[in-house]
Amino acid sequence: MALVGFLQAQNCTTIPAAWRQPDARLDFTTADYYRHIGRTLERGCFDLGFFDDRLAMPDMYAGDHEHTVENGIRCVKLDPTVVLTAMGMATEHVGLGATYSTTYHQPFHVARVFSTLDHLTGGRAAWNVVTSVNDNEARNMGFDHGLEHDARYDQADEFMEVVHGHWDTWEDDALVLDRPNGLFARGDKVHRLDHRGEHYISRGPFTVPRTPQGHPVVIQAGQSGRGQRFAARWGEVIFASNLRLASAKVQYDKLKVEAANLGRNPDHLKLATLMFPVVGRTHAEAEDRRAAFDSLARDIDELSLLSEGLNFDFSTKGVDDTFNEAELAALSGIQAIRDRVMERAGSAEPTVRDFMRITGRASLSHAIVGDPVEIADYMEEWFTTPACDGFVIGCSHQPAGLEQFVDLVVPELQRRGLFRSEYRGSTLRDHLGLPIPQPGEWKGA
Ligand SMILES: Cc1cc2nc3c(=O)[nH]c(=O)nc-3n(C[C@H](O)[C@H](O)[C@H](O)COP(=O)(O)O)c2cc1C
Repeated sequence: MALVGFLQAQNCTTIPAAWRQPDARLDFTTADYYRHIGRTLERGCFDLGFFDDRLAMPDMYAGDHEHTVENGIRCVKLDPTVVLTAMGMATEHVGLGATYSTTYHQPFHVARVFSTLDHLTGGRAAWNVVTSVNDNEARNMGFDHGLEHDARYDQADEFMEVVHGHWDTWEDDALVLDRPNGLFARGDKVHRLDHRGEHYISRGPFTVPRTPQGHPVVIQAGQSGRGQRFAARWGEVIFASNLRLASAKVQYDKLKVEAANLGRNPDHLKLATLMFPVVGRTHAEAEDRRAAFDSLARDIDELSLLSEGLNFDFSTKGVDDTFNEAELAALSGIQAIRDRVMERAGSAEPTVRDFMRITGRASLSHAIVGDPVEIADYMEEWFTTPACDGFVIGCSHQPAGLEQFVDLVVPELQRRGLFRSEYRGSTLRDHLGLPIPQPGEWKGA
């Protein structure tokens, strides 16, 4: 079973109420905060921790950031690759992932950042490839609006071809480092990419030699039809968000079939499903923890995160106002959020209140709450069905939520033989059981 820590280089976890918890650490701008989280992940033998990212504050609600900063709604966002470097220098084994957008960066730059990280961490780097979700990111990065949903993925396909192209341009034995004879590297083993496509021009030669993992591990979390096709083509670790075992199983099987149809080995894609565990020594203690946590959540957290995720200003409607068919179709952010509401609202015209209740983006409403045995039972069932190859562990607040999981649930998973008790290899690919990719392998997909 793979375990991935879902991390944020920000003032709270994904849930704004996190910073309001009495035992949350508030030194989120210090290296020590991230070093501590990294060491905790490593103590729990996690495969990796990864930082999510968004290139804007969630200030879509009422078009204003005052509520965002006053309520501390994911308003601080540090650069995840810099934070990752600090974490990498404080750890030895745990893999380290960060999110970078294909829509707002140049492929040469991204290829170089993650290759550098892979070298400096001895082969522990991963890149979570996202296409970005809302217009506020566009407005920070040189545009008025984001690209249309599927067009983002079309552009991202070319982005990935350029990145992989550069990653492959130094052959494994290009570096010679022969000081007596004055030969640094073989000229015939370092190639120029010379890419000229619809969206990108990138010549090369690339300036970072091939990395310990061949190239960093590629993470992807597309949930829509177009997004899942992209994930099946490029992803090595796939994140999914699914609350029901039956539909998770369908998604899991579909991904593996889709990857096989593209000529990929389905075992070389690891699907990790998102879960928010709230654990206590007893069930009652876990329920108390959830209740205490949610007592500090606010409606504005929910409305602000819905606006951000769906690229729509929810302040333009009252809580009992409905969305008609045309309005639903126009929601252009994370379509999986909209689709979940349409599936569960019990009405073709869901209200704002339905969105708040069903998505629960700002509370622990979808958490798995229980003692260590109950949480491990849940994970074992999903893993052995199989509906996933592992889990992305979201935390209520840091570092307490992560520490509770590591101290209470991980030993139970280890006792059952579901999870490692020590690291056996040194790279992230070793932990995940992923081979070093052959140069040009991606071209087949
Ligand atoms: C566990 C997980 C983590 C994600 N992290 C990010 C992130 O850091 N930044 C981001 O813009 N999107 C993130 N996403 C959103 C996905 O990249 C994707 O846009 C979303 O799942 C919807 O799929 P679609 O793009 O195919 O509509 C994440 C999704 C999941 C399930």
